[in-house]
Amino acid sequence: MLNIVILAAGLGKRMQSNLPKVLHTIAGRPMLSHVLDGARALNADGIIVVVGHGAEQVREAYASQADLQFALQQPQLGTGHAVMQAAAMLKENQHEDVTIVLYGDVPLVQPDTLRALLAARQDGLAVLTEILPDPTGYGRIVRDASGNVCAIVEHKDATAAQRAITEINTGIIAAPTAALKRWLTQLTNTNSQGEYYLTDIIGMAVADGLTVAVAHPGASFETLGVNSRMQQAELERLWQAEQARRQLEAGVTLADPSRFDLRGTLECGRDVFIDVGCVFEGTVRLADGVRIGPHCVVRDAVIGQGTRVEAFSHIFQAEVGCDAHIGPFARLRPGAKLADRVHVGNFVEIKNTPMGEDSKANHLAYIGDADIGARVNIGAGTITCNYDGVNKFRTVIEDDAFIGSDTQLVAPVRVGRGATLGAGTTLSKDAPPDQLTISRVRQTTVQGWKRPVKKS
Ligand code: UD1
Ligand code: CA
Repeated sequence: MLNIVILAAGLGKRMQSNLPKVLHTIAGRPMLSHVLDGARALNADGIIVVVGHGAEQVREAYASQADLQFALQQPQLGTGHAVMQAAAMLKENQHEDVTIVLYGDVPLVQPDTLRALLAARQDGLAVLTEILPDPTGYGRIVRDASGNVCAIVEHKDATAAQRAITEINTGIIAAPTAALKRWLTQLTNTNSQGEYYLTDIIGMAVADGLTVAVAHPGASFETLGVNSRMQQAELERLWQAEQARRQLEAGVTLADPSRFDLRGTLECGRDVFIDVGCVFEGTVRLADGVRIGPHCVVRDAVIGQGTRVEAFSHIFQAEVGCDAHIGPFARLRPGAKLADRVHVGNFVEIKNTPMGEDSKANHLAYIGDADIGARVNIGAGTITCNYDGVNKFRTVIEDDAFIGSDTQLVAPVRVGRGATLGAGTTLSKDAPPDQLTISRVRQTTVQGWKRPVKKS
């Protein structure tokens, strides 16, 4: 059985925030969620989050996640003390049962690194370590004459010789569960910080004749912790660079990998091009050959093969078919469902509206709660008046209709197949198919009219 304990009781004072540290985000998701991704990728049998500062807020944020258990650490007396609070919840029934300790504020440890840690572990402990040019502040990995790990000494407790050691404890360890429980009961706080150090179990394992193995992270960003907004911002950039690298590797062209932001999942077909400054959120799927222009925001959307989205378009909970042309400056809102070859141009907003093949709304329009057929042409300045201040109503525009510019469609209303609406029409009754419907004051010219002149 595999247990994962996530330490998340710390204060996070340097964040200068009312929000508990582990709820601060990387790539749009709380740090704790990233840590949980790693834990879940390993199919852990139990996941225990140790909470303390802001415990209620953290519990509330994860209340719906049934695979989590919470242990309260109050007050916070060190990393060993934190794991003690979870000890009773650790599942064990066999000798091989293992517990991994992760930190809630070290969000980007990758599953492969955790697998390497488990693989390195023999009968005893495994510690994830790193060699750092500047190891200041970290616990040092102390090895005996034959090179075996025999202790971890905290920076504050270390001798000058130990401080010269550059191999550090990342804090992530894997331990045999039964022995861990026993060692936890033996921890003391007789050290310079008066804390119960989890790292003291290394010496205990050695005293029990167990081996202490080490493993290293796949990439250096994986073990970076967040203690301040600055570190959060730095880790965000490193993670975005990593996500960009993965997209490039999968065959996506990014005009500039350093100006790419993904806050969720992005699945791309072949030969997708993404220009600079785009933000992808939630779950986005771009089919083969899609081109996204600069500075677009795309969230929870599916975009079909060969479609082009031009600069500054905003797409949220919408579907776009193949070979469509969107933007620049288009806004697709929830329930916009555009069929193949639809054109939606600048300053056009579409909400809760299916739009049939080859239909066009090229300039300045609001289309909400409508059903639009195929080959419909919607002129500039068209507005569906879908809301009477209390209720919303639908507008139906059948195939091949032509909506003249500056038309208001006062819903509920229907425009028949092949109908034409004259420019400036305020349509408040259904327009019959194949005919011209127009509501406009007749144009007159006043003969002999003179402009007024200024009185002297
Ligand atoms: C710890 C390790 C050190 C390692 C370093 C890596 C110990 C004694 N030291 O140092 O060897 O190099 O991490 O960053 O383990 N936490 C709690 N409750 C507590 C104390 C801490 O939940 O009572 C949590 C914190 O929220 C944080 C993590 O544990 O997520 C580590 O705490 P922190 O104080 O940053 O670690 P150090 O003691 O500096
Ligand atoms: Ca500490």
